[in-house]
Amino acid sequence: MQIGRLNHVGIAVPSLTEAIETYRTLYGVSDITTPFDMPAQGVKVCFVNLPNSQIELIEPLDETSPIWNFLQKNPKGGQHHVCFEVPDIDQAVTTMHARGATVLGEPRIGAHGTPIIFIHPKNSNGVLIELMETPKTGH
Ligand code: CO
Repeated sequence: MQIGRLNHVGIAVPSLTEAIETYRTLYGVSDITTPFDMPAQGVKVCFVNLPNSQIELIEPLDETSPIWNFLQKNPKGGQHHVCFEVPDIDQAVTTMHARGATVLGEPRIGAHGTPIIFIHPKNSNGVLIELMETPKTGH
């Protein structure tokens, strides 16, 4: 198994509204999706659509959110994870385990509606890696 396309870069932010404004006004992006809640993940998410990839902006829903502590350490926000596509998430879990990686949790449905897993940052130079099953109907 080899990782595929860079699907998105995840950025934790204290305020989606302010972050969206930054991408609109400072970087001139008009194609930004409407934010939606993902209660199971404890986050509110939107995507900044770029020609070759996406930026995933993530705001915690409350202090029980998995990214709450990250924002305590990085109050202005910061790069949280990088997401690569894989053809099959179950195969990816098996392969990553076999290669000695620490897979965080069980496969779950991510913001794109396809299964995802996370690989511990200690396995990848301090970067949290999300692996996401490639959507079956294009991007
Ligand atoms: Co992500």
